[in-house]
Amino acid sequence: MTPPKSMNPIPVGLDDGYAYTKLVLPDGRMLAIPSRARLGKANVTWIDSAEQRIFEYETETQIFAVGEVEGEPTEFDAYPFSGLNRAIVQHGLQQAGLEGHSVHAVSGLPVGSFYLKDGSRREETLARKRASLKQLVQPLDGRLPAGIAFHEVIPEALAAWYDYVITESDEGVLLEPERLQAPLAVVDIGGRTTDYVVVADQGVVHNASGSLRCGLLDVKREVGEGIRARFDLETVSERTVDASIQSGVVRLFGKDRDVADLVQRAQRQLVERLHSETQRQLGRGAELERILFVGGGTVALAAHIRDWFPNQAIAEHPAFANARGMLKYLRYVCEASDAA
Ligand SMILES: Nc1ncnc2c1ncn2[C@@H]1O[C@H](COP(=O)(O)OP(=O)(O)OP(=O)(O)O)[C@@H](O)[C@H]1O
Ligand SMILES: [Mg+2]
Repeated sequence: MTPPKSMNPIPVGLDDGYAYTKLVLPDGRMLAIPSRARLGKANVTWIDSAEQRIFEYETETQIFAVGEVEGEPTEFDAYPFSGLNRAIVQHGLQQAGLEGHSVHAVSGLPVGSFYLKDGSRREETLARKRASLKQLVQPLDGRLPAGIAFHEVIPEALAAWYDYVITESDEGVLLEPERLQAPLAVVDIGGRTTDYVVVADQGVVHNASGSLRCGLLDVKREVGEGIRARFDLETVSERTVDASIQSGVVRLFGKDRDVADLVQRAQRQLVERLHSETQRQLGRGAELERILFVGGGTVALAAHIRDWFPNQAIAEHPAFANARGMLKYLRYVCEASDAA
């Protein structure tokens, strides 16, 4: 065994979502990779290793190819505990330059997977997730693995609340007293889920918190189905659909075809559903000091969610708010209580 590179473990905020895996490091670096991998070797030989775009990893005797592959769907309930998830996370850690390092991480689960309806924690699920990411994932190209030595799990949208109430500046780390007291809602628009969390008096208000199985991956599925139907195709690759959502065109049979209407229709459907569900969940938000929007979906739908509530705000770099909060939780809540 090669010893780890550094004796000091590196703390990492690790938001391993269904669409993107986001990492935040103590030096302020933020990194996102698509949660995209598939089971099996890639069977690609790189002539020039600098051009390598597919990376292989082995975990629990299964081999996964991560990177520029046709991704397997991540939208299955066991994804957070799967080898697919571990391989993608290991790839993220490698991309962040953590080869050979020991890592301490905080990751998340959707609010609805974290808590039971009565507000108690689903301890078995949490233990399963904690254990999964601590398993070894070996890069097959000779790089050293990054090993997760400590791993804690918190509810995803609640991570963004920690990000909001704990601030870091040159003067040091501060628990913002007026932010701590004020009732706040976080809306985390993600890939598979949209998470709601309401915090008042430093506690989660369970009847106003939960997860909705609805997010930007629904837009991807709708657009994929629309393209297949319109051009009479049996299949269309997941990456082609992703590109067409970005650009509004799809390249088929050597020609660009306009599909902006399909993208807009799918987005409008999602926005309408999210708008009504958010109102159902939070009412008019009159007694909330602030409604904080986070998640990659907040970036993607920014133009459509501008005036839902008079007291709404969009977090800074919203796609990374959870990962930032996870790192703050690790450094200032976990480690402080470990030391005590
Ligand atoms: N910078 C960006 N600009 C535009 N759209 C983005 C950006 N980042 C993410 N998105 C979109 O937001 C969606 C959700 O991203 P996000 O990273 O929040 O999902 P996730 O956390 O992986 O999902 P979940 O929370 O359901 O597990 C993506 O599928 C993508 O369509
Ligand atoms: Mg998310």
